[in-house]
Amino acid sequence: METILILGATSDIGIAVANKFAAQHYNIQLAARKSAQLCALVADIQTRYQVNCTAHTFDALKYYSHGAFFEKLNPKPGVTITIFGVMDEEDVAFGDWEIAQRMISTNYTGTVSILNIAARHYIRQKKGTIIGISSVTGDRGRASKLIYGSSKAALNAYLSGLRNKCFKDNVHVMTVKPGLVYTRRTAHLPLPRLLTSTPTEFAEMLYCSFKKKKNVVYVKWFWRYIMLVIKSIPESQFKKMKF
Ligand SMILES: NC(=O)c1ccc[n+]([C@@H]2O[C@H](COP(=O)([O-])OP(=O)(O)OC[C@H]3O[C@@H](n4cnc5c(N)ncnc54)[C@H](OP(=O)(O)O)[C@@H]3O)[C@@H](O)[C@H]2O)c1
Repeated sequence: METILILGATSDIGIAVANKFAAQHYNIQLAARKSAQLCALVADIQTRYQVNCTAHTFDALKYYSHGAFFEKLNPKPGVTITIFGVMDEEDVAFGDWEIAQRMISTNYTGTVSILNIAARHYIRQKKGTIIGISSVTGDRGRASKLIYGSSKAALNAYLSGLRNKCFKDNVHVMTVKPGLVYTRRTAHLPLPRLLTSTPTEFAEMLYCSFKKKKNVVYVKWFWRYIMLVIKSIPESQFKKMKF
């Protein structure tokens, strides 16, 4: 069975995605910064699903380690999923370059760094799948998501370009744009249930869309239409609105 590499595996979404693929008998490579947490997750997945599951230390900001990280993976994953990301307080990031830069460097530069490596491998072997978790916030720049949103907008453009670049070599690239998801990051926010997915719902949607080889997926699906409306507002009006 194919091996799935999950980058950002200690996030609630990463854990749910790992469980979903393991339940379908895929072998799993879990990658993240926190090795103690990774080891516990590996043990849990192996016990539940009797699949091959391994832990790998990965830091999105250590760009120069990414080549050696991917080189060491054995077997090489057939599917690479990037889930890691940072969303700091926008007001703080606006006034503190270190915070802003960390968001951009993790969400965009870190993802590009590791996915360029995975994509080159897949292009050489003429098969493979890349799944990038972005966000609906990348669809239109807003004051309340100034830095985070722009990092995800750049990521959307990169994933679209990568899809275009890899298509002729039988490499599929899927962009996943969540609206709202109940996770550790959003635990303190009063999220509207109708617009928010659980990590399990998210993983289900990602898995089904992967099987159907979708290009761009909104989670939940109606976020596509919410964002269509938001994108259709003329800039002359949009700049006066409070978002
Ligand atoms: N929750 C939402 O409503 C929502 C909406 C739209 C998009 N998303 C996207 O979904 C993804 C997961 O979000 P989440 O809500 O689960 O966030 P989260 O709870 O904050 O998890 C983020 C994950 O990213 C990892 N990470 C951060 N910096 C890293 C680095 N330098 N190297 C490696 N891993 C790093 C963290 O690892 P550690 O455990 O080591 O800190 C953590 O596992 C993100 O890409 C986010 O932008 C989430």
